[in-house]
Amino acid sequence: MENQDYIIELKNVRKKFDDATDYVVEEFNLKIKKGEFVTFLGPSGCGKTTTLRMIAGFDTPTEGQILLKGVDISSLPPYKRPINTVFQKYALFPTMNVYENIAFGLKMKKVPVTVTKNGKEVTKMVHLSKDVIQKKVKKALEIVDMEDFESRNIQTLSGGQQQRVAIARAIVNEPEILLLDEPLGALDLKMRKEMQLELKAMHKKLGITFIYVTHDQEEALTMSDTIVVMSDGFIQQVGKPKEIYDEPANAFVADFIGESNIYTGTIFPDHKVKILNKLFEMVDTFPLHQKVDVVIRPEDVIIKEQDQGTVNGKIVSKIFKGIHYQYVIMVGKNEVTAQSTESWPVDSTVSISVLPNNIHVMKRNIEVNIYDGYITKNNKVCFADFDWECDVTTLAKNSHINEEGYLQTEDGAEYDLSDCEVKVYVDLDKVIMDDKVDECDVKGQIIQLVYKGDHYQYLVRNESDDFIVDSEWTWNEGDIVGIRINPENIKLKLKGDLKQYAV
Ligand SMILES: Nc1ncnc2c1ncn2[C@@H]1O[C@H](COP(=O)(O)OP(=O)(O)OP(=O)(O)O)[C@@H](O)[C@H]1O
Ligand SMILES: [Mg+2]
Repeated sequence: MENQDYIIELKNVRKKFDDATDYVVEEFNLKIKKGEFVTFLGPSGCGKTTTLRMIAGFDTPTEGQILLKGVDISSLPPYKRPINTVFQKYALFPTMNVYENIAFGLKMKKVPVTVTKNGKEVTKMVHLSKDVIQKKVKKALEIVDMEDFESRNIQTLSGGQQQRVAIARAIVNEPEILLLDEPLGALDLKMRKEMQLELKAMHKKLGITFIYVTHDQEEALTMSDTIVVMSDGFIQQVGKPKEIYDEPANAFVADFIGESNIYTGTIFPDHKVKILNKLFEMVDTFPLHQKVDVVIRPEDVIIKEQDQGTVNGKIVSKIFKGIHYQYVIMVGKNEVTAQSTESWPVDSTVSISVLPNNIHVMKRNIEVNIYDGYITKNNKVCFADFDWECDVTTLAKNSHINEEGYLQTEDGAEYDLSDCEVKVYVDLDKVIMDDKVDECDVKGQIIQLVYKGDHYQYLVRNESDDFIVDSEWTWNEGDIVGIRINPENIKLKLKGDLKQYAV
């Protein structure tokens, strides 16, 4: 069977919680190979835990399927799935000792045995013997390196030790898949690093599939065979750590994985892209004049003496980071973050260049906000749950609104535009975010942001729609903002023929 290669497959999985309007997981398509170490990586609230809970069976997908070795397991309860979970907050029984905590599940468990009774073979469900339980617990304790802690009380253990017990408790059932939801989140940095290596070693030793959740990109890069970068319920990219780091699929991934310089560029002839007001050589091929996102890693920025590189800039900050210096260089209005082992003085003018190989050019996700709207009775346009002032006379050449409120063209024809469907276009830099939220009719929440050298790109969401906004002002993720758009910046296009609205 073709699906046998994959232990878990998510097919068009979407999830919406009962009382919510938005999906928190969208169009999730993923195949996980047996024995793989897969990491879901993404900012808080992007749907990592929800996806994991659906795999474990604690939540059901609103749409789509979850297949285990090619078989749909949607209706299988959690305890019947060969899957165990280590949760974000480890829930151990505080009154039991280490041994009892790990053995707890095994004591409940019944396994089938075949016995011969009166010459006939019968299958009975029996509890595991004390001996078997003891062996299994011992083996689990060995794997998490806690052999000597069997009889210790849970409350006397450190956070790291408790987490090991939680892991031992999950692997003692010999699951085929282990789900780990930010298992190291509560540990300090040093302990976390240690446990990362140990978990990786455990994965190797056990040979089972790990699905790991974290919002820490470094953790994901060091531990995983495959990383699934998520944002706002969507998969942004799936790949090996190196692929994701070297060839991010879009500006969000580039920004989230490691520090990056991200600029909006324009394609010029002969494999050149214009950023920082200069032409840089690149290796990719893109259509001429196309607007693109350009990503440059700080370690790929080469600093030279003034006029020796592609473009000059002024060093405005310098921080020693142990092995290298981190510089911020202003090139016109744009910031360039650079790393170098060489020491350059602050305030000096230098020149920078980047090897063509290190100029990562990618298609822009969104170049303009597009909405489906309709014209209201008073010639406003309704989209994003609001009636916006706009200029409907742009829908027909040399037209005006007459006394009856109809659109009238030069030849005297009249059109009643109410309810007529339109496409609405708003440029990214024409959406205005306002901190006087109470004075604005439309409000939204900042879901995501990416810094692009001289401005930020924000994703702002209201009840019904998203706005992508380019702005030089700094806001935070989660901020509630007012949204304004000046009427002249709302561009309209009729979906049908104007004739059908003739009066
Ligand atoms: N039971 C629920 N009912 C309604 N909404 C929920 C429920 N559980 C989660 N959500 C919402 O779904 C979205 C995704 O949540 P989820 O817990 O999957 O995020 P996450 O990526 O695990 O975040 P974190 O890194 O903070 O743990 C959030 O907006 C959250 O508020
Ligand atoms: Mg979570």
